[in-house]
Amino acid sequence: MLLSSPLTMPQSPSFQLPDKVRLVEVGPRDGLQNETQALDIDSKLQLIERLVAAGLKTIEAGSFVNPRWVPQMADSDELFQALPTMTEVTFTALTPNLKGLERAIKAGVREVAVFAAATESFSQKNINCSIDESMERFRPVVEKSREHGIAVRGYISCVVACPYEGSVSPQAVQKIASKLLSMGCYEISLGDTIGAGTPRQIVTLLQELGQTITMGRLAMHLHDTYGQAIANTYAALQAGVAAFDCSVAGLGGCPYAPGASGNVATEDVVYLLNGLGIEHGVDLNRLIEAGRFISEKLDRDYRPKAGVAMMAGG
Ligand code: HMG
Ligand code: MG
Repeated sequence: MLLSSPLTMPQSPSFQLPDKVRLVEVGPRDGLQNETQALDIDSKLQLIERLVAAGLKTIEAGSFVNPRWVPQMADSDELFQALPTMTEVTFTALTPNLKGLERAIKAGVREVAVFAAATESFSQKNINCSIDESMERFRPVVEKSREHGIAVRGYISCVVACPYEGSVSPQAVQKIASKLLSMGCYEISLGDTIGAGTPRQIVTLLQELGQTITMGRLAMHLHDTYGQAIANTYAALQAGVAAFDCSVAGLGGCPYAPGASGNVATEDVVYLLNGLGIEHGVDLNRLIEAGRFISEKLDRDYRPKAGVAMMAGG
């Protein structure tokens, strides 16, 4: 029998889970950057409006990267200027360098993210420089952001595995995370870019990072290529992480990680959190409406398991 509302746990689990999590909706950026055709700006705005209506409070809406590298995000300047001003919702964007930050400042962005990688090959393919060079580029981005009162988040890609170099050691991730935090990033989002990780690897990684970094400074960014993202979300929750990136309708991928599929679907994460009794502030039915809207726009089947099941259950 399909359930129109999620099961709740009969009693508290014996391990500690956070009472509340922060969801970072990355569909309009991570999701749409990977589409072969750029989505028109009106449809992007309609998607974002629906995500806000569903209760999402942090939405990564675009990126100020080189438009020749990622043409799907070329309209971010115009998009941010068209977004409503809302004190309770933060619209964020990727800024790989000072040029990107200057565009973001002009467009009125209040939070940005720099994005590093745990391997040299991914760093070169994604941002055209070595890891050390990327740190030197990010430093002035973080400094200038702070001068403008803009919060900066740091991403690390390939925290478990790299499409070019294979497995990645937790120590390599720790080194970069510490640098980004000491530079002034308020949080590090750990990207399993190719979705290859399994819960044991996620826990091992978090244990290593946990020796020097509090869990409150970490977020997970889990792609679902191997179907492990919900299991990995649960493992990270048990380890004490309370911030998760996710993507409506499970959209997403990285143009420089061939074959990687979308982020964990926001719908599936919300269903999981509902079942665990963890607060998140999102209305699942309205989220499903947003997911169906964008799936229709992109002319594809609506895929998140929780969303499909709830639709079938009425
Ligand atoms: P570059 O070509 O090395 O840059 O690109 P450059 O400094 O040599 O400049 C070359 C030209 O690009 C110049 O123009 C610059 O003005 C221009 P020209 O003089 O030739 O006319 N340029 C820019 N234009 C607009 N905005 C800018 C900008 N910067 C330079 N910001 C760069 C270096 C980093 C810009 C490039 O490699 C790039 O855009 N990479 C972005 C790749 C990307 O967006 N990847 C996907 C996002 S990351 C991701 O998905 C992973 C994540 O989800 C986590 C996970 O899943 O792991 C976050
Ligand atoms: Mg990603």
